[in-house]
Amino acid sequence: MEPVITPSGRFYNEDCVSGARRHIASDSVDLIITDPPYGIGGDDLHQHYNRDEDYVIDGYIEIPASEYGEFSRDWIREAERILRPGGSIYIVSGYTNLYHILKALRETGLEEINHIIWKYTFGVYTSRKYVSSHYHILYYQKPGRPRRFNLESRFGLGERDPDGGSLNYQDREDVWIINREYKPGQIKNKNELPTALLTKMIQYSSNEGDLVCDMFLGGFSTAKVAVGLGRRAVGFEISPQIFAARADDLKTIRPGSLLPTLRTPVVDARANRGRPWSDADKAALKTRFDHLIQSGRTKKDAVEIVARELGRGRWAVEKMLKTLEASPLTPSQPRHIPPASRSGQPPRTSPERTQTPSRNPP
Ligand SMILES: C[S@@+](CC[C@H](N)C(=O)[O-])C[C@H]1O[C@@H](n2cnc3c(N)ncnc32)[C@H](O)[C@@H]1O
Repeated sequence: MEPVITPSGRFYNEDCVSGARRHIASDSVDLIITDPPYGIGGDDLHQHYNRDEDYVIDGYIEIPASEYGEFSRDWIREAERILRPGGSIYIVSGYTNLYHILKALRETGLEEINHIIWKYTFGVYTSRKYVSSHYHILYYQKPGRPRRFNLESRFGLGERDPDGGSLNYQDREDVWIINREYKPGQIKNKNELPTALLTKMIQYSSNEGDLVCDMFLGGFSTAKVAVGLGRRAVGFEISPQIFAARADDLKTIRPGSLLPTLRTPVVDARANRGRPWSDADKAALKTRFDHLIQSGRTKKDAVEIVARELGRGRWAVEKMLKTLEASPLTPSQPRHIPPASRSGQPPRTSPERTQTPSRNPP
């Protein structure tokens, strides 16, 4: 079939290895998210799902288990070539052929960042063993430039759940609990990745306008979410049947249409993050912290308040307090409170808050 070219994407009904060689320049892709065929007999995949097969598109091209090692080596080498230095790649894999993918990755110059477990309800029934309910997501980078990781793209570092836990920390744990979308009554590919899963990877690892590639488009879910989030997309699907059935959906996606559905994180502009501490900064920290403790604040709250006021990260503040405990400032060092702090206002080094205040202010 002819490629599908839209203002935001290019999609080819071709084998991803030869297709990438033909159509994608080296070092040109910002992010790859892909879900290769599983090598477990794709036509039996439906047996894992309790669903009406009338809506599932045929034509899924499976890879024989005996060829999976070589197949993985070929496409992963090609993925490495097209990824730009500092670009990221997420590979979704079941357990059966995971070792082939890991081996292929280790034969490249790509570097492991995280091995993520994607947990969801799979729907398999077992009675004499545990129930399988996870997939693997291998998150790697191409070295050579700093990797894009949008730390506060979903939750600000200061945002807390009602029990005081950090929402940012929880979102960045390497076990992701995201259910599949069952889409009853809708046309679907055999194994579509959920929008929430794709959104998360795309938010953390790319910016609007970046190029996102999926080597195995299937139902075009990566491409649809990427375009919906204002990214550009490129990809390959070898099956003419699947390509024909799903490429038209892609054309209906309005670039950026998913952006308004995203949560707005509450982000403090910690202006002094990473800046060396002067003696005056240290003195201001100690004085303000002691004052907050004396006025009945918990240590955790006091650290949070001081960090915000001084435009520093919480960990940096905790570390400096420990340092000051071990070697206190000498009397010759200034211990003044900056005038703004005395008045109850943040000191001059305090950042402007860029967005709305935290939901649970300390
Ligand atoms: C696991 S599915 C991808 C599912 C997709 N992520 C989605 O959400 O719909 C793998 C897809 O790769 C396709 N495929 C198999 N071999 C391929 C190859 N060499 N090049 C491109 N696509 C291939 C299969 O036909 C199948 O549609």
